[in-house]
Amino acid sequence: MKKFFSNIILVMGTLIPLTTAAETLPLIQNVNAYESMSLNGDWNYIVDVQEEGYYDYRMNPTRWGFFQNAKPQRPEDLIEYDFDKSPTMQIPSDWNTQDERLFFYEGTVWFKKSFQAVPTKDYRTLLYFGAVNYDCHVYLNGRHVGHHIGGFTPFNYDVSELLKEGDNVVIVKVDNKRHAEDVPTQIFDWWNYGGITRDVKLVKVTPVYLEDYSLQLMKADGKAKNREISFSAKLNKAEAGHNVVVYIPELKLQQQLTTDAEGKVSVTLKVSAKKLQLWSPETPKLYQVNLSLDTSTYTDNIGFRTIETHDKQILLNGKPIFLKGISIHNEKPNGGGRANSVNDAHTLLSWAHELGCNFVRLAHYPHHEEMVREAEKMGILVWSEIPVYWTIAWKNTQTFENARQQLTDMISRDHNRANVIIWSIANETPHSAERDDFLSRLAKYARTLDNTRLISMAMEVTGASNYVNRLNDNMNQYVDVVSFNQYIGWYRDVNDAPKMTWEIPYNKPVIVSEFGGGAKYGYHGAKNQRWTEEFQENLYIENCAMLDKIEGLAGTTPWILKDFRSPRRVLNGIQDYYNRKGLVSDKGEKKKAFFILKKWYEGK
Ligand code: GCU
Repeated sequence: MKKFFSNIILVMGTLIPLTTAAETLPLIQNVNAYESMSLNGDWNYIVDVQEEGYYDYRMNPTRWGFFQNAKPQRPEDLIEYDFDKSPTMQIPSDWNTQDERLFFYEGTVWFKKSFQAVPTKDYRTLLYFGAVNYDCHVYLNGRHVGHHIGGFTPFNYDVSELLKEGDNVVIVKVDNKRHAEDVPTQIFDWWNYGGITRDVKLVKVTPVYLEDYSLQLMKADGKAKNREISFSAKLNKAEAGHNVVVYIPELKLQQQLTTDAEGKVSVTLKVSAKKLQLWSPETPKLYQVNLSLDTSTYTDNIGFRTIETHDKQILLNGKPIFLKGISIHNEKPNGGGRANSVNDAHTLLSWAHELGCNFVRLAHYPHHEEMVREAEKMGILVWSEIPVYWTIAWKNTQTFENARQQLTDMISRDHNRANVIIWSIANETPHSAERDDFLSRLAKYARTLDNTRLISMAMEVTGASNYVNRLNDNMNQYVDVVSFNQYIGWYRDVNDAPKMTWEIPYNKPVIVSEFGGGAKYGYHGAKNQRWTEEFQENLYIENCAMLDKIEGLAGTTPWILKDFRSPRRVLNGIQDYYNRKGLVSDKGEKKKAFFILKKWYEGK
């Protein structure tokens, strides 16, 4: 292997430039509508604690890195790694639950997948990742495709120029080390699962494709005879004259449109109100929508509903709704590990349904797409959040750009989901001018991306004395719903919930986005004995009664549906690296408090 020019190397007789050779593209909308080749399955992996595969011994990025997948050509050649002789793990997954040596591991792991491809000149090929935690470099056939940070949102690259006929090799360097300037920052109360945690696929697209589209029911007063549905779409190229058709067979709604110079179309479709079944938890109606662009066609399933607030009420389809919710982490229903399938979603959401929920808070980061779509089918409303969690580096401009990109991708992926009603931009963030500036800019930005949904964040009780709890947060003016976490009965004021009163000086709906306490399933005793099911049960009895007294309470998402892994929970014999505030244990066993909340929701 000889070095010719600073960013060109010779590998196995081939000249290989070292620059990034693919384009990071805006997220493609509804990727499942496209023909694609899954790259899920066995991937070889190399654990690289000191990033030997990326840096030389002077800590400069090396050009002989593992991304070359180099093989000795002559007997004397020295290559000190070999993916094909390295173990494999199933992708998508996290490495922590796939290889017991990596249970606590935070660092770099390299992944390699070989595959066959038959690129055709009439199509482009996108390399799509559902999510990779946290910091990854992607290579195809030895070329750098792109660098992505953020562990919970999808990203895609156009790799058409790099794809070869026949053998191809994709290599991904994944690093989940934590840093103060990251989003989330250095400490968080969930397991820092590392790896390629969601689907990987090669997506076949025409050179011009529908990059994004939106179908939203517009608000109207209840008596309106006709309803209006706004449709807009954007091509991946600013090209005029392309033929776009939107067709909703069941509503006999069809419209043909031609793109303008920006490659955009938009129209308002009219439908008689009688004919339109609105999406709601009771009737989670989804309409098949057929979209076509020139000769290509795509299908999606979309529901129509409106969401708004009126004083302290949340109105779904113009009617007040109480959000009977539960918080959930994106973890497999049994044991640990990142959830990433329809089954994982269905099991978790079925427990929420059993509780009587019509709403879930997907904490503290965007969950896998199947979770949101399964909830939509099951009639469960969603609060979706970006991991601006605890004390973020508010003054750091890259941190802000990182948070903004995650917000962009969260909204971009799920903005056509009828069940998603709240975008949350933060959780339990300490008050400061820098924080207010950071979050207010995020809130305003979110509205520019989507002005049809509610904006919120999980605030904290700011003052409590003599059993009077106050909420005083400058961010109230930037959110539609005032939400806060409170842990009366657990982190403070045990058994004092009945005495508590609340001062929430904002004429906006209130959501108690967290309350709860821990219990080890099967551990029984007196109701004042920590960690017993009886303690948790009593805490729920008292908190539910206290919540009934909060004026303007429009919903709640107790913490949390299921015990989940956390490195911050080290009490041996009780926590064992699980946060035990679940109403269901890590093995799917229901604790006594589960039935207290279920009963309370029956009364709502
Ligand atoms: C916080 C936080 C959660 C955490 C919970 C707890 O409020 O938002 O992420 O797990 O409290 O302490 O259990």
